[in-house]
Amino acid sequence: MKLSASIWACVLALFIAGWRSIQLYRSSTAVLSPNALKDGSTLPSEIHPPRRYSKDIDEDDIMKDNTEKLFYFVQISDLHLSKFRSHGYTNHFLHFLQSILPTMSPEFVVVTGDLTDAKDAKAIKTGQYKEEWEMYKEAVQQGSLGIPWYDMKGNHDSFNLASHNASTDLYRDYGKSAKLLENEGIYSWDIVKPFGKYRFVVADATPKRGPARPLNFFGYLTSAAMNKLEEAILTPELYNHTFMFSHYPTTTMIFGESARGHSYKDLSHRLSVYFCGHLHRLVAGLGDVLKRYNYGTDHLELELADMKDHGAFRIVAVDHDMITFVDAELPIDQIQDDDKVLELPPDKRVPWPKPITTPPVVIITNPKDARYLLADKEPYHLPKRSTHIRFLVFSDAVPQRLRIRILVDEKRHPFPAKFVGTKELPLWVSEWDPNDFDDMESHVIRIEAEYDGTGEATTMFRMDSMRLSIAGGFGEWLIGAHMSYLLRTLSLFGIFVMVLLLLGPPLYRGIWNKDQGRIASSLLCKIHEIDQYPTCGPFDFVQRQVLLWLLRFMQLGHDQPAIWYTTFYYLMILLMLPWFQAEFIPSGATDAERYGLFYIWGLAFGNDWVPLADSWKYAFTQLVFDLGVFLLLFAWRATEAVDLHCRGSYKGRQQKRQLNEHAWFKGLEVIYWLWRMSQHITLGSFYGGLYPTLILNVWTWWLLFVGAMLLQGKGGLFSKKRQRIPIVVPGCAGCSRDAS
Ligand SMILES: *[C@@H]1O[C@H](CO)[C@@H](O)[C@H](O)[C@H]1NC(C)=O
Repeated sequence: MKLSASIWACVLALFIAGWRSIQLYRSSTAVLSPNALKDGSTLPSEIHPPRRYSKDIDEDDIMKDNTEKLFYFVQISDLHLSKFRSHGYTNHFLHFLQSILPTMSPEFVVVTGDLTDAKDAKAIKTGQYKEEWEMYKEAVQQGSLGIPWYDMKGNHDSFNLASHNASTDLYRDYGKSAKLLENEGIYSWDIVKPFGKYRFVVADATPKRGPARPLNFFGYLTSAAMNKLEEAILTPELYNHTFMFSHYPTTTMIFGESARGHSYKDLSHRLSVYFCGHLHRLVAGLGDVLKRYNYGTDHLELELADMKDHGAFRIVAVDHDMITFVDAELPIDQIQDDDKVLELPPDKRVPWPKPITTPPVVIITNPKDARYLLADKEPYHLPKRSTHIRFLVFSDAVPQRLRIRILVDEKRHPFPAKFVGTKELPLWVSEWDPNDFDDMESHVIRIEAEYDGTGEATTMFRMDSMRLSIAGGFGEWLIGAHMSYLLRTLSLFGIFVMVLLLLGPPLYRGIWNKDQGRIASSLLCKIHEIDQYPTCGPFDFVQRQVLLWLLRFMQLGHDQPAIWYTTFYYLMILLMLPWFQAEFIPSGATDAERYGLFYIWGLAFGNDWVPLADSWKYAFTQLVFDLGVFLLLFAWRATEAVDLHCRGSYKGRQQKRQLNEHAWFKGLEVIYWLWRMSQHITLGSFYGGLYPTLILNVWTWWLLFVGAMLLQGKGGLFSKKRQRIPIVVPGCAGCSRDAS
């Protein structure tokens, strides 16, 4: 073994970085791990509720034509009340209160966060605005018709907040559930009916210190919050259903562990549905179905689109313990949205917009949609014994004026629809015989209600209690993807791969006493051999590329030592030092509150860590676009076409340049660099400008180094081209044939 002193130094640096990483990881996630000693009891029987519904059905369990055993509630999300923006925003929320809510009498309304927009006129700086909060409070007070109202914070409501107790935390003064949220951000309430008990749990997962945008997208629950959540969910008494509400889909959350060692997954065995918002609808149709069924725990996660742009609202009905829901939207085309931003006048009377006519909203409660079946938590055998199709129709018209059409498998249902409900519970039924559909096939039922427009609902059902796939594509994948953890894994894996590519070759040479020249020749020999083939198939192509890149990374250290050493030590710095200092919370009262350090492991304010997964999202983009791409470009320069060319190549003497040897390509590299640099500079515009955000920033210095190398380094735009003649590779039949 023969390692040079500088390689030993690198190995030592790697060890120090690894050790420091473990330390930083521990302190950054300290609030997520339980303090109490685990007594090893996981109490599995407490978590897994016994199956509660037997197949023997009592007469009064049968779903028929009465309003028994039925209730519903409403969820809305992402209101983004704004003092700067028109078209949607405040307008949509006021229309919802004005024209939709009066058509129903839900048990309660719950708003899953982002009550206010909290962005300035240019949408760059963020902060809590009193006007937005006052509008929210007054609108709810004057427009919620006495219906119980629950809310929670979203990431926008915690932008630019020094702490939960800061005077700038306006949710404390204006949020409806502010008092309830003081208990580590967890609260719950019950609905007790003669026919069952239902629990509703809210978890506010916003960061305890809220950075301004953009590094405030993910949420987390500390171990202390998990204890409260456990208390709220793992009740000794069993509920018919437990529902949870949070702003963040679980894919954008990091969950701590409770003192008794329970993770979110453990607790979710007790959940029927986890309701959330936050992702709106993503873009380009990717987020149309942000819904997912979790097999292991038998619960659903249902994201709801935003009120702000889409005017979305959700009605959830529980009928004989079968859970159904409909995601409806305001008739946005009807909303006259002149460019006016709605403001609260001094007398605080909400400037209600003109009422709009809304089409009826239909929700079919029997049969239940087979895509959302909960095998262990619902009496799934009930629909099969039911005597009636059941559905709720919400409309401001009296039932007699509504025209109802029921289509089963696109054929007119032979029995008429009958209104059997009340104003509060507008239930309609229609006789049916479920056995007609018990043919192991899927069926579709569509119900239209017409009055001032048509509202309709569609349900896919089966009588054999088989689940249908949600078929949500990307959205469904994303909801189950554990993005927070995925980004962390990918970032660390990226660093690992880059360290391996850099340190691997010298270690290999040193440990096995290989000679650089010999390795290069043998790799070249193989490449030349492939070049002798008259044709190059896909397999040859891949093999050639692998050999080429191996050769390039083998050469990189020799060829461009400055780049090799800088990149290696830079990677070590990324693991163990802060990346930059910035004014994350401009509204903070003291410098200590305002300024924080960005580590890949999280944000640190003094000794206080905020383990936001945003650091991993930022790290991942930086590692790919500002490090990985440039490393590849530099490695590419380790070979030139002339080094690779076989003099006896079958393809004659013409020798094509590598793509990156063309001047236009080098120009593109510089343009890419300029783009990255401009992206980097925007960070300063969010967090306090040039100093400290951009000056005390390792990426600024890295990008400047890269820029210099792109221009002046080997093969750079301004570097001198040396004239070289093709080499003869010892041992290559082609080369020697030509040389002789
Ligand atoms: C709720 O649970 C209780 C106790 O298990 C059960 O008797 C009751 O039938 C359930 N309610 C409904 C509507 O199924």
